[in-house]
Amino acid sequence: MPLKLSNFKLNIVFFFFISLMPIVGQTIKKGDLGIIPLPNKIVFGDQNAEIELLKIYIGETEKSSFYTHLFSGIPKIKVVDRKEANVFYAFKPSLGNENYILNIEKDDIRIEAGSNVGLQYALISLVQMVQHHGFPLPIVTIEDSPKFRYRGMHLDVARHFFSTSDVKKYLDYMAYYKYNNFHWHLTDDQGWRIEIKKYPKLQEVGAYRKETLIGHYGDQPHKFDGIKYGGFYTQEEVKEIFDYATARNINVIPEIEMPGHALAALSAYPELGCEEKVYEAATKWGVFEDVFCPNEKTFTFLEDVIDEVITLFPSKYIHIGGDECPKDAWKKSEFCQKLIRKNKLKDEHELQSYFITRMEKYVNSKGKQIIGWDEILEGGLAPNATVMSWRGIEGGLEAARQNHDVIMTPGSHCYFDHYQSEGSDEPIAIGGYTSVEKVYHWEPIPTELEESKRKYIIGGQANVWTEYIHKFKDVEYMAFARGIAMSEALWSKEKKYADFVPRYEIHNDYWKNKGVNIANHVYELKPKISAGEGKGVSVRFDIPNGSNIVYTTDKDQKPVATKEKIKITTSDTYSFAALKGEKMGQPKSIIFDLHKATNARLTLESNPSPKYPGNGPSSIVNGVIGSDKKYGGSEWLGFSGTDCNGVIDFGQVTEINSIDLRFFKVEGQWIYLPKKVEIFTSEDGVNYMSKYATTTINSDTKICKMSIDLKGIKSQFLKFNFTNFGMIPEGAQGAGHKAWLFVDEVVVR
Ligand code: ACM
Repeated sequence: MPLKLSNFKLNIVFFFFISLMPIVGQTIKKGDLGIIPLPNKIVFGDQNAEIELLKIYIGETEKSSFYTHLFSGIPKIKVVDRKEANVFYAFKPSLGNENYILNIEKDDIRIEAGSNVGLQYALISLVQMVQHHGFPLPIVTIEDSPKFRYRGMHLDVARHFFSTSDVKKYLDYMAYYKYNNFHWHLTDDQGWRIEIKKYPKLQEVGAYRKETLIGHYGDQPHKFDGIKYGGFYTQEEVKEIFDYATARNINVIPEIEMPGHALAALSAYPELGCEEKVYEAATKWGVFEDVFCPNEKTFTFLEDVIDEVITLFPSKYIHIGGDECPKDAWKKSEFCQKLIRKNKLKDEHELQSYFITRMEKYVNSKGKQIIGWDEILEGGLAPNATVMSWRGIEGGLEAARQNHDVIMTPGSHCYFDHYQSEGSDEPIAIGGYTSVEKVYHWEPIPTELEESKRKYIIGGQANVWTEYIHKFKDVEYMAFARGIAMSEALWSKEKKYADFVPRYEIHNDYWKNKGVNIANHVYELKPKISAGEGKGVSVRFDIPNGSNIVYTTDKDQKPVATKEKIKITTSDTYSFAALKGEKMGQPKSIIFDLHKATNARLTLESNPSPKYPGNGPSSIVNGVIGSDKKYGGSEWLGFSGTDCNGVIDFGQVTEINSIDLRFFKVEGQWIYLPKKVEIFTSEDGVNYMSKYATTTINSDTKICKMSIDLKGIKSQFLKFNFTNFGMIPEGAQGAGHKAWLFVDEVVVR
């Protein structure tokens, strides 16, 4: 029976009462000043300033509606006439566009800024200091400039639609953390969201889908809500957003997806598809075979769309998508096959390149540049394209080596639609696991990239895909905590997670107090449970800032506090919590069900993918079952295209009655059950005898459970081979890619 939280809390109070343990307090490090992202140079004077009210004069040319917003509700900041001011600024273009120097002196504050942008960043830093450090302000000089010139956040408004006022909130948040690029994902299979006057059916038809999938894509059978869903931004609204962003020095990059993710457009204009049929906007998620056909009607349509888009977005970049375009429709189309032959193209991948290059030429002819997802490398990169590397870092490496600008946005660190917590009550997310800490540690430039090519990595971006993000409150939950961490990864040249956490907590409280639904999992315990270190398992925690761990068990409710690793030798339910100051973090209950493999030695033939390593190979024999909802946590091991084969050495001849296995299956996310499961035993670890083999492995649900009866066989060594499914077949999502195999606990009794 799991421990009751209320008991746990009572016990904690009691524990403090009797033990008089010193409590670890949270202090703001003076050097931090409450500013996120951390400025690059802070030099303190040895006194505090005597300023009690910031009186800022903003000249006519620098006036911005953003400043009214930024200063509103802060009683300690007043906008005044020049002669009353105690905050002064001057422009010094030699500093560089985004750079600033902020001097707080005894009686006044002086800013030097490279431009209006640098001035905005200086004022944001000042506002944050007032809000998160407070008075008295220290005498200090801050010299600041960003690490990367591209600092982006993306928002998918196609899967779910967000009002202009929501988008403005997003832009305000971005500005507060010095992001300078908003990537607005405006079209996809599930909805076309931007008004194009020449093509009214995009608004009438393409902006709506007839219903939406309920729950997770992996939950079978699929269920739908039966409710028509949609919406679009009028061109007036688009201009309003553009102006709002511009006032915050945020560049807006509209994305018009092509040639794939085009179902909503095809539902409005079916003649742009390769087949004569009725198309419908998608009602579920994923990748769809129906894509734009590279015929003249399509190019005319897309060029017309681009014409309207560039009048609305007078900035440098247009994102043309390019990702996840299945080639099935093109393979079946006589027209496409003729086009391939006529243009002496090798295959459909070169046809994709032909498509993108042709659109790039058009965009370039209008004085604009394209950005595309990393698939645009396939079949040859369009000459002037900037690449967004999302399927890992490889696309980014390749593009940089071809001297193309790159924006890094790998799924492993930058996809804020992934889970951010291992808690069982998290809202449904697409999958994966990307914590604030992981985002914080992200380095956009891959270490393997040659020095001479590093300049092509112009920055990074967080992507907020909204299949499972229905309302703006969900955007806040999924994006805002991690966005704070990412801002520092993209701005600050030196960073330290332990110093970041207290600042982050203050910012997190700030948003919470404003009614924002920001998540906070920084003090969530992430146990590292390892077996193979003698009897039982060891549990370790990495807790920032010297907190203690307190735990009780079901059988013994007396709390124990420790900073050491915890050894667990009997099956029981443990409840752990971090103590920071007098506050207790969210308790975490873990059921330890130790079994014969827990005390044994496990050797894997090959390690899991570094993307899904669990807590090392012993995660699959550590007596703890992985989540039923997600595969990205500490208990599941993920193998990309490779098998999970291993040997368990019990140290002595041992009776084996049964083996219980769990595998994850979400084919839509490329996760397949093994093709074959085999069990062997051996007395010497050399000669093995087959005891069980099956190729009939099925499951209607995400978790496939198998129970194998070994009828009390006696053996010292047990070998298991779980054979990866292999390549994903044609017609399935991820076709042609390696399948993932996810393995949970191998329970031996
Ligand atoms: C993407 O996530 N399909 C770019």
